[in-house]
Amino acid sequence: MKRLIRAGILLLAATHASAQQTTDSVTPEAATPLGAAALGAQVDAALAAKQAGQPVEARHWMVAAANPYAVTAGAEVLAAGGTAADAMVAVQAVLGLVEPQSSGLGGGAFLVWYDGASGTITTLDGRETAPLAAGPTLFLDGTGKPLKFFDAVVGGRSVGVPGTPALMQAAHAKWGRSDWAGLFAQAIRLAEEGFTVSPRLATLVAADSMRLSKDPEARAYFLPGGLPVAEGHSLRNPAYAETLRAIAGQGARRFYSGKLAQAIVEKVRGIEDNPGLLSEIDMSLYQVREREAVCVPYRGHEVCGMGPPSSGGLTVGQILGLLQPYDLAALGPGSAEAWRLIGDASRLAFADRGRYMADSDYVPVPVKGLVAPDYLARRAALLQGGEALAEVAPGAPEFDHALNWADDDAIELPSTSHISIVDQYGNALSMTTTIENAFGSRVMVGGFLLNNELTDFSFRSHRDGVPVANRVEPGKRPRSSMAPTIVLRDGRPVLVLGSPGGSRIIGYVAKTIIAHLDWGMDVQAAVALPHLVNRFGAYDIETGTEATALEAPLKALGYEVKARALNSGLHAIALGQGLKGGADPRREGIALGH
Ligand code: DON
Repeated sequence: MKRLIRAGILLLAATHASAQQTTDSVTPEAATPLGAAALGAQVDAALAAKQAGQPVEARHWMVAAANPYAVTAGAEVLAAGGTAADAMVAVQAVLGLVEPQSSGLGGGAFLVWYDGASGTITTLDGRETAPLAAGPTLFLDGTGKPLKFFDAVVGGRSVGVPGTPALMQAAHAKWGRSDWAGLFAQAIRLAEEGFTVSPRLATLVAADSMRLSKDPEARAYFLPGGLPVAEGHSLRNPAYAETLRAIAGQGARRFYSGKLAQAIVEKVRGIEDNPGLLSEIDMSLYQVREREAVCVPYRGHEVCGMGPPSSGGLTVGQILGLLQPYDLAALGPGSAEAWRLIGDASRLAFADRGRYMADSDYVPVPVKGLVAPDYLARRAALLQGGEALAEVAPGAPEFDHALNWADDDAIELPSTSHISIVDQYGNALSMTTTIENAFGSRVMVGGFLLNNELTDFSFRSHRDGVPVANRVEPGKRPRSSMAPTIVLRDGRPVLVLGSPGGSRIIGYVAKTIIAHLDWGMDVQAAVALPHLVNRFGAYDIETGTEATALEAPLKALGYEVKARALNSGLHAIALGQGLKGGADPRREGIALGH
């Protein structure tokens, strides 16, 4: 398999020279094009490093993401003098092809940006929006009961207005240097000439064939001749190439109005057993939002992430803030006491997340109150007991509205992808991107899958007459757990990271920061460190790892413990003396740099 992917990448690199010629606004002296052979060797070295548990090292730039084809496309852009924003466009365009189950044009994303020139940090919100016709009964059946999760997911009902194409364009417009159209060249070429189906894609298609076969376009693409596409098979996606050509030529407006937007709307509304409410007006109204980052101090660093509508930045920030008074470094990663503190800090943070976090354009969210030092100090004192907290309830952060919300327990299941990039200009980009569930709504248009992001809303609008903050409302963005993060020290980035994993993303990201900052692990070791994740209920422990040694001690401390596969997809870059990249050994990605 490794050989097949490498052969594909060599082809891609060899044919890339022509694509790069279109990048006319790049500073020529900054361009250091990589040859095909050098790139192929680097991919091999990156795969080997990951297997050996070593970080990839570089001096000038680095990109880490979930698939070698996508990373290579990003590396070529960076090598030719492109910025992290340029490289992201190329990476995302290829990910939508080679990892279609996780992210793409039909989904949404959040991006955290550190600007090398100004030393400032900002975030872009490319989250999907609910159709204007959607309301509190969207996910209720005729009797007012919440739908079963997959009955809501599969079909048109769960599809929100995609944000990723607009986000790609907004990031490029703000921070790009390369010619927009050229950034799609690799993805178009691969879509037309074929890419090698990875083991993960083949496995997930086979596991999901029943659901994928409901939509004729998805069936024809993923199950040609009625059989799931096989690992190692060369797959072409001419419809995706055509879509990319349209966006490359005329920008994201070609996605949000005209033929493509019409086709998306018609498809979503026309699904017989589960139609959606999306309209062309919804598509044409879509806007990326620039928002202030949420930054929380931790061990002399500032941990900066995505605020509402994501719960990622606030919940990671709360976990770390609650742990600040405790000496995790002295306890070490093998200590049940360390994991008691982390687990209960996480339970307390998740209690607040369930009650208070949602789209702050629609409902008041106590963003400042949730991470205020005195509030965190009060909640942190609850962790002094030495045993698992018997009960965990939301706190009462300072809130300038006399309001309270009922708790929300929206479900999130596997897919999603994370991209970390550092460029030669000192910019850093952290972007988590998703179509929500694996293969999203299973509805395919124009060679890509549409999201099911609306099932990230609470299915219930009220509990016992009290409204849920994350209820469905027209035009609103569903609460997310995505936690693209940049950690700063003295105002400069030292760690860029993020992960897939639904609401476990929060635990994966917090753990990686703790492993790196408290336990001194290099970025690859921090990413690979076995997971222990606690949201509200059971303590999830990663099966088949040394973390299972903590099962008995954590049980003795009063936790319900569940051993399970914990499929993160962490991609991280540490900055210090040069760059060090880490790619999650649980997934197919790599880090590549120069
Ligand atoms: O926005 C969110 O939090 C989810 N829709 C992300 C889904 C996800 O990460 C699934 N991962 N394995």
